[in-house]
Amino acid sequence: MRVLVAGGAGYIGSHTVVRLLQHGDDVVIADNFSNSSPLVVDRLRRITGRPVKVEEIDLTDTADTKALMRNAKPDAVIHFAGLKAVGESVTNPGSYYSVNLRSTLSLLAAMQEAGVYCLVFSSSATVYGMNPPVPTPEDSPTSATNPYGWTKVMGEQILTDIAASHPQWRIGLLRYFNPGGAHPCGAIGEDPLGVPNNVLPYISQVAIGRRDYLSVFGDDYDTPDGTGVRDFIHVDDLAEGHVAALHRLTTMPRSLDVWNLGTGRGTSVLELRAAFEAASGRPIPYRVTARRPGDVARSLALVTKAERELGWRAQRGLLEMCQDAWRWQSQNPDGYR
Ligand code: UD1
Repeated sequence: MRVLVAGGAGYIGSHTVVRLLQHGDDVVIADNFSNSSPLVVDRLRRITGRPVKVEEIDLTDTADTKALMRNAKPDAVIHFAGLKAVGESVTNPGSYYSVNLRSTLSLLAAMQEAGVYCLVFSSSATVYGMNPPVPTPEDSPTSATNPYGWTKVMGEQILTDIAASHPQWRIGLLRYFNPGGAHPCGAIGEDPLGVPNNVLPYISQVAIGRRDYLSVFGDDYDTPDGTGVRDFIHVDDLAEGHVAALHRLTTMPRSLDVWNLGTGRGTSVLELRAAFEAASGRPIPYRVTARRPGDVARSLALVTKAERELGWRAQRGLLEMCQDAWRWQSQNPDGYR
């Protein structure tokens, strides 16, 4: 299969490209490198020994996206492209709605024109809002607490309506829980710009000495140690979930479906910190600070639907995720820079 990977130079995109290439699929990456590095592409070629085509493109430009789709002639598209920092989305909502929604609409228009009807969309557990049942099944109501989250809810809604309008569409919505880790070779990984928003890259930067200590956002939650509990999933498991979803789309009876990608296992912030200390052999000092507004006590995936329908389940454990994250961080202390 020939797959156009929008946002394929980013963290989850690049790991998915490795899996697609290893699976024998051909890949064209479309990226504007606004939050990723062109260096990723050479590393992908090195890891897989396979060619990777790259198109530098702004996907909010519909004419350019249509031209790309005509030239690339993919069988399917995986759409990772978009902005993803929650805090930034609150201070700059206009650019979040503009970039995330316009890129999706532009890709859809280009796909429709080129007769490409197979799409996997990068969504997030953030669409379950503040009070979902835990573990969370896919049929829980969706909502959001910040503009980033709303762009995912709205993106899903657009795709649901598009899928209903034309029976030939095959669309998979993948709701990620908390991705972490890196490819075990250490050549690709997460490289956040500025201060990391998410706990795992933050811990990793404390371990390497770029930050002094971890702020633990609250230890008075209703959880065993009082800190937030999350479903951390190794990025390579997530990548394999995309390959499974893509191949499910080719035999899927409905035009749209949705799957959680998580492990179903919970880890607290303090447990994660301890696992990272063990994996890195470095101390991770921490201080407990106030809760972060909008955080929930626990977030866990119900994973049975993905297991049943995609034949996929997460294989890698917490320690392996921390070891792989540390290998990437220690081999690339300043990321791709
Ligand atoms: C966050 C986003 C979510 C997004 C996801 C992408 C928020 C509120 N949610 O999820 O919309 O889809 O990232 O990966 O930002 N923590 C600390 N110290 C830190 C950072 C985090 O203690 O420096 C704690 C948080 O309070 C939380 C846990 O670590 O309990 C996980 O936080 P984070 O990594 O930001 O992920 P989520 O909040 O689950």
